Amino acid sequence: IRYMDDIQMKGRRVFIRADFNVPLDDFGNITDDNRIRAVLPTINHALDEGAKVILCSHLGRPKGQRVEKFSLKPVARRLSRLLQKEVALAPDCVGPEVERMAAGLGEGDVLLLENVRFHEGETRNDPEFAAQLAALCEVFVNDAFAVSHRAHASVVGIPPLVKDCAGGHLLRAELTYFHRAMEDPARPLVAIVGGAKVSSKLGALENLLARVDKIVIGGAMANTFLMARGYPVGRSLVEPDLVETARKILDRARSNGIRIYLPVDCVVADRMEPNAETKIVPAKEVPDGWMILDIGPATVALFREVLHNARTIVWNGPMGAFEMDAFSRGTLAMVRAVADSYALTIIGGGDTDVAVHKAGEVDNISYISTGGGAFLALLEGKELPGIKALETCGGGG
Ligand code: 3PG
Repeated sequence: IRYMDDIQMKGRRVFIRADFNVPLDDFGNITDDNRIRAVLPTINHALDEGAKVILCSHLGRPKGQRVEKFSLKPVARRLSRLLQKEVALAPDCVGPEVERMAAGLGEGDVLLLENVRFHEGETRNDPEFAAQLAALCEVFVNDAFAVSHRAHASVVGIPPLVKDCAGGHLLRAELTYFHRAMEDPARPLVAIVGGAKVSSKLGALENLLARVDKIVIGGAMANTFLMARGYPVGRSLVEPDLVETARKILDRARSNGIRIYLPVDCVVADRMEPNAETKIVPAKEVPDGWMILDIGPATVALFREVLHNARTIVWNGPMGAFEMDAFSRGTLAMVRAVADSYALTIIGGGDTDVAVHKAGEVDNISYISTGGGAFLALLEGKELPGIKALETCGGGG
């Protein structure tokens, strides 16, 4: 695919699809603006080139309705501050008023379109809706890695309708790091997979089994694997339907010569609450009525050892219910272990980035992906529709 450096932008209306799907508190304040900051190099590049910039994003899942709490107003304000220039918010993303505003842009101006998911044409990838968006611009730039796994109008519908399209700087960084880690990695390559459910990670595990040297499994999804080994898991979250699948994954790993590491001890609690009673027990001896909510210290030591000589580490998903302090130690210790390693380290998806920020180790990780579902889709070995679409601009050239 082409990247934006190869595209002439001066005086042209450049439509940048970004992912400004940021978390907001109950008062509509942005609680984490990383996804906005991550697109600044692309916006500044277009502005420096003398483009007329049109920004587009979704926020939340308003399901084709105009829902005020999903307005991009707070994003417009934050962007103005970060770019140190006025960012006008259009009243909508299509329609005569928006067309007038887009046509009136001067070089170096920035217009932010209102939430593209206020129209159901977006998620349905309605061709007419895509054509209305495409009519606003001459150049399309995809810098929305985090939504590139969705075949939505503003992601895949616009490129075939415009003459020039390209990936932005964030998109390039995401793909470059991911490929470095997974296509031609320095070995050993170790994957750390966590999170609540095996079911949502099956595709990733299958793909990883064909690529990595070792897999470390934590989080509630490890419980199903412990069950597959015949251990008692008390009242822990498990997916009984997947015990057989988990057993097959363990067998396949063994016959492929890939080591899978599971927790050897766990933090168990009598309930999943911040002030629950907790204790540390061997993974083989989880008592009746208790639930596993974090990995224990012996597991941290074991996992640390596994990471010690790794040269590439890819991590998705926390090691426990880390949103509660009582069950965050395992995940935070793993962040530190990853940060201390000499490996190329890539972290993405499922709140794993939140843990890195919480541990204060952001600067010691090679790359933190802005993608959740998109990062997982890459781990599954899937081609992202938004990336593929960049080959279709000008009707296929
Ligand atoms: C994300 O937060 O992962 C992306 O913005 C995509 O959002 P979605 O899952 O609502 O499509």
